[in-house]
Amino acid sequence: MVTVDRITKAYGNGSVIADIELSLQPQQVTVMVGTTGSGKSTLLRILGGLERPTSGEIRWDSDRGNRARPNLGIVFQEPRLMPWLNVRQNVEFGFGPEGHRHSAELANEILVQVGLASFSRYYPRQLSGGMAQRVAIARALVRKPSLLLLDEPFSALDALTRVRLQDHLMELFIRHSLTMFFVTHDIEEAVALSDTIVVINGRPGQIHQQFRIDLPRPRSRQDSAFLVWKERVLAALTE
Ligand SMILES: Nc1ncnc2c1ncn2[C@@H]1O[C@H](COP(=O)(O)OP(=O)(O)OP(=O)(O)O)[C@@H](O)[C@H]1O
Ligand SMILES: [Mg+2]
Repeated sequence: MVTVDRITKAYGNGSVIADIELSLQPQQVTVMVGTTGSGKSTLLRILGGLERPTSGEIRWDSDRGNRARPNLGIVFQEPRLMPWLNVRQNVEFGFGPEGHRHSAELANEILVQVGLASFSRYYPRQLSGGMAQRVAIARALVRKPSLLLLDEPFSALDALTRVRLQDHLMELFIRHSLTMFFVTHDIEEAVALSDTIVVINGRPGQIHQQFRIDLPRPRSRQDSAFLVWKERVLAALTE
């Protein structure tokens, strides 16, 4: 669905990623793990159209055969909510300037799905970190994104909330038939969510290894096969 073709990005003092080749499969979760500074966020921003590559290209192959950039949703590490808008208004903000004829209905539906229906009048300052991040996910989902990009969306949360939101995200993944590109530092999170794990490292960041995670879902984190994958990914990261 998305082909990353030999993407290189350089700022003033040299490349931060080099010759990245990757393809994202529809309705699958591709998780990228890598050491800090290896260029994960840079690649995600290029995928999201927030930055241009120095060389290489991103190709979008939609089912209709056209190659236009599809509808994207992006979730960052911080929720980036508008403090002067309440939860519902923040979610509706996701529709963009053109709005949407059925926006109120769809916003309601998604608020129920992320468990925030009774908090729709709350303001961001009244939310916990986990709630705020669910608003950010809801805001991305109302766009009905063909590709959802997530850059360490749960890394600021406590361990229990993180696991709950991972499970929650997987329910939304199935319900909305999402295609996701997810960046994280957390190896357990990578194994829990992914169809494919891509390991990037070095400077400039290069793809070091890719793993196909064929564990059935829902996944039990205590399973021996799960633990074996954690070990393998950790070993690849530290190589
Ligand atoms: N706008 C910019 N100008 C110059 N250098 C930049 C810019 N953005 C990123 N970099 C550099 O590119 C490198 C990769 O940054 P990036 O944020 O993509 O890494 P990352 O893998 O996401 O790291 P982390 O895991 O810490 O989030 C870093 O060394 C950073 O200093
Ligand atoms: Mg980053």
